[in-house]
Amino acid sequence: MKRLLAGLSVVVLLGGLTSCAEDDQAPVNSKSIDQDKITVPTDFPAVPVPSDNPFTQAKADLGRHLFYDTRLSTNGQLSCASCHQVANGFSDVGKDVSIGVNQARGTRNASSLSNIAYQQNFFWDGRRHSLEQQAFDPVLNPIELGASTQAEVAKILTKLNQEPKYKTLFTNAFGDDRIDVDRISKAIASFERTMISGNSEYDKWRRKDPTAQFGEAEKRGLTLFLDSNTNCSRCHEGVNFTDDKFHSTGIERVYGDGGLEMITNRPEDNGKFKTPSLRNVALTAPYDHNGMFKDLKEIIKHYNEGGMKNFTQDSLIHQLNLSDAQVNDIVAFLNSLTDRDFINNKAFKNPWKE
Ligand code: HEC
Ligand code: HEC
Repeated sequence: MKRLLAGLSVVVLLGGLTSCAEDDQAPVNSKSIDQDKITVPTDFPAVPVPSDNPFTQAKADLGRHLFYDTRLSTNGQLSCASCHQVANGFSDVGKDVSIGVNQARGTRNASSLSNIAYQQNFFWDGRRHSLEQQAFDPVLNPIELGASTQAEVAKILTKLNQEPKYKTLFTNAFGDDRIDVDRISKAIASFERTMISGNSEYDKWRRKDPTAQFGEAEKRGLTLFLDSNTNCSRCHEGVNFTDDKFHSTGIERVYGDGGLEMITNRPEDNGKFKTPSLRNVALTAPYDHNGMFKDLKEIIKHYNEGGMKNFTQDSLIHQLNLSDAQVNDIVAFLNSLTDRDFINNKAFKNPWKE
């Protein structure tokens, strides 16, 4: 409930702060700033980009600086990257739920941001519908970056204004050096759209690259993943292994966190959470919205047992009767979704350390 309230106050606050959003359209859409391309593998769909935030590399560069800027937190110690680390597929390191400013304990596991550009619902409960809408939420969230009052937001903007590098970065991105919440959100969203992961061993194998490390265990695992007993690919579907929809997978008999129900207030949505992408999943442990599964084997065992049968559990989740060897094969397949080029990509590293 606390999170939902935090979410609501954010809407009100953002409404007040983004009233000058329309001014931004002119320079961005003017002929002097062309839209740049976001490079994706040939077998991936084009990245959707909203018309009010055309993609430019200059905006993404600014967004990267902001993503790694600890001045976005009230205690000056955390940035987006503290909980979304590139080495872990832009998720955090081994925490069940994330820890924000002043050691405040959150209630949910930090999401991975690999290929986030393709999603339309954000957060485990889908309470946001664009990256631009989402981007400033963590700054305002009292248990993340902590600026829960207008005065604290103003202080953060003042600190950003004192950084000489931002004068150039904001001018390159938006035509002048004014810093506001709307521009910060657009720049961070632009950077997030570049987080494209499409060169895992599985991708290489699909493209018939002879160097792909995708052996017999991985192939058996993929076959199981696609079959009509496990149903894995019914929810983890498509290039990004998610239907971007909400399901209860029966991990708890009585859900402590209502998930989608907290947004819709409908009891039939209790315990429904967004299907997470499985890109780089081997790097994002622990698993599920509350981080209750410590490794991949543990979560596959949960699916194998068929769930706790809470009243909203999806009918696709049932006892699977997989052998230990088959569980291991599915784990091998999931491991093949790790993309080393993605996590080592220099374009994602901390620009303040360059
Ligand atoms: C203290 C840790 C923490 C910090 C700092 C943080 N996040 Fe997150 N992030 C999370 C958690 C936890 C979630 C899932 C929360 C939920 O679903 O309610 C999340 C979810 C997200 C999502 C949604 C992903 C999805 O699949 O739906 C995006 C996008 C995101 N964060 C971007 C950011 C950006 C941008 C920043 C910096 C402005 C940031 N985060 C700062 C912990 C953090
Ligand atoms: C009914 C849809 C559905 C089916 C079928 C399904 N999943 Fe999931 N999966 C989800 C949802 C929803 C979550 C998040 C649940 C939560 O957090 O409470 C999830 C979470 C996961 C996670 C954790 C990822 C992370 O980042 O935390 C893994 C791994 C996973 N599923 C793999 C599988 C495999 C393997 C199968 C088949 C054996 C499978 N799933 C079947 C919907 C499904």
